[in-house]
Amino acid sequence: MARKPAAKKKTTAKKKGKYEFILTAKRKGALEITLNRPEKLNALNEAMCGEIIDAMASVENERKILCVILQGNERAFCAGADLSGFSDRPEDRYDNYRARYNARKNRLMFTYVKDYTKPVISAVEGYALGGGFELAMFGDFIIAGEAAQFGLPEGRHSLIPGAGGTQNLPRIIGAALAKELIWTARRISAEEALGHRIVNHVTPKGKALAKAREIVEQMSKIGPLSIMMTKQSIDRGLDMSLAQGFQQEADLAYLLTWSDDRKEGLTAFAERRPAKFKGQ
Ligand code: COA
Repeated sequence: MARKPAAKKKTTAKKKGKYEFILTAKRKGALEITLNRPEKLNALNEAMCGEIIDAMASVENERKILCVILQGNERAFCAGADLSGFSDRPEDRYDNYRARYNARKNRLMFTYVKDYTKPVISAVEGYALGGGFELAMFGDFIIAGEAAQFGLPEGRHSLIPGAGGTQNLPRIIGAALAKELIWTARRISAEEALGHRIVNHVTPKGKALAKAREIVEQMSKIGPLSIMMTKQSIDRGLDMSLAQGFQQEADLAYLLTWSDDRKEGLTAFAERRPAKFKGQ
């Protein structure tokens, strides 16, 4: 009797995601980006920064996506720039300088997050150090699990917090405390960060993402164009004189005059029903 051919081996090929260093998921109005390099505490390499930019760019015009949530894992949001990736070759030095604004993703990513037209919320558990903390500060606000730790330890490596840390941190907590934290590399707890208004909320361990999602749910009732313009107005205004700030605020308010959503918002109010915004 002829032997039955061996059953074809089932191939359970792992479905590969689009990215190597991040995971992405769309959930109830948010693009959730998970930094996913756990063996290196989510240290930022250039490819990961490029992936973050790419993922955010892919939904910027997607109207159902209202905001971006960044997260890591329970041990680390992000332990900063990948220290193993710092080039020491003398011949690279000025190429790195020339490329830093226009080509290096690990610099572009930070300003990309700052200038993004939708809110970027960081849900931080575990370490947020160096570039990890700087990334969270370039976002719009931070929610921290109670075991989160924040710090700018670059000085230990004779580096400086060069991804916005020496600019953003003093603007949040004042120059004197920022200097102390940078010059001692002291890590602060979520509770202390809350006291300094670095974070908006502290949650039980592991619940920062849930709190961020709750806030996204609340934001979904607000006109998305209003959120886009108020983000611009607040961020630009903080970099201007008060008089210039009022002026650009008035211009942005005027820009919304012709939106369908403004009409819908006012009509819905008059008709005592919830507004249905389209983002146009
Ligand atoms: N760049 C590259 N690798 C990093 C890293 C970074 N910024 N931070 C952590 N890692 C790696 C470690 O080298 C280690 O990898 P290995 O297992 O292959 O050796 C792994 O992540 C786990 O880190 P480890 O130091 O073993 O964990 P820990 O719990 O003892 O300490 C920290 C955690 C965050 C306190 C410590 O890793 C640290 O100080 N990291 C550097 C933080 C920093 O200076 N950031 C600013 C960079 S400019």
